Amino acid sequence: MANSMTPSTPVGKVYLVGAGPGDPGLFTLKGKTLLEMADVVVYDALVSEPILAMINPQAERIHAGKRRGRHSLPQEETTKILIEKAQEFAIVVRLKGGDPFVFGRGGEEMADLQAANIPVEIVPGITSGIAAPAYCGIPLTSRGYSCSATFVTGHEAAGKYRPQVNWQAIAQGSETLVIYMGIHNLPQIIPQLLAGGLTTDTPIALIRWGTRPDQEELLGNLGDIVQKVEATGFAAPAIAIVGRVVELHPQYDTLLHTAN
Ligand SMILES: C[S@@+](CC[C@H](N)C(=O)[O-])C[C@H]1O[C@@H](n2cnc3c(N)ncnc32)[C@H](O)[C@@H]1O
Repeated sequence: MANSMTPSTPVGKVYLVGAGPGDPGLFTLKGKTLLEMADVVVYDALVSEPILAMINPQAERIHAGKRRGRHSLPQEETTKILIEKAQEFAIVVRLKGGDPFVFGRGGEEMADLQAANIPVEIVPGITSGIAAPAYCGIPLTSRGYSCSATFVTGHEAAGKYRPQVNWQAIAQGSETLVIYMGIHNLPQIIPQLLAGGLTTDTPIALIRWGTRPDQEELLGNLGDIVQKVEATGFAAPAIAIVGRVVELHPQYDTLLHTAN
């Protein structure tokens, strides 16, 4: 059986392809062509149905998706499958939500594949942290509001919050924060942002299923958003945008939203 530690001669190549945030209109032409030509597609949970519908009907499909608390395949198993498939087939697509290199473990998969002597190519996708705020009219930077944006993960490990992020430094160093995987941990994150100098009236927008027909938004401030999340049952997967740019939401909203 193939093993990542024993390089062999691959017949194929693995393409790490970003599927974007959901709206198929945001998927790249390069990604679409690869899906249409693929022999095998290994895809994540957050890849939308209209994009999965582009997969070559003859291709083998493997769902490697994982969502909080519901792991389908362990990461090592996914990597092992990619290595095995590349030893058998010409075009193996690893399809990931958003961009493969933005909180998508694409870097790790690339390194593992290279260690196994498998050719790899990266096809970027539009990351949800850019697309979701755009679809609800929030520019991440805007003159007079913000001249910097930081992408940061709010993910916790297996039920225990062990912050690796220096939230206080980020609060001081960036005017817009784009927080991935942070909804569940807002009660832990917000006090640190306040300790870093942000105030309770700092605006925050939560955007769930951004760019999809069922996109949902929840607006508030650092003082009231946790209560609003609890009251509405707002849940992942969602992006949180923190900063004054959120104030621009009402005036941009109707201008930018496009059909899926
Ligand atoms: C493991 S990360 C993957 C990020 C992905 N690589 C990207 O570039 O968007 C998963 C997190 O991305 C965010 N996310 C992905 N798709 C989203 C969408 N359509 N709307 C809002 N947030 C999304 C959520 O924070 C979710 O918990």
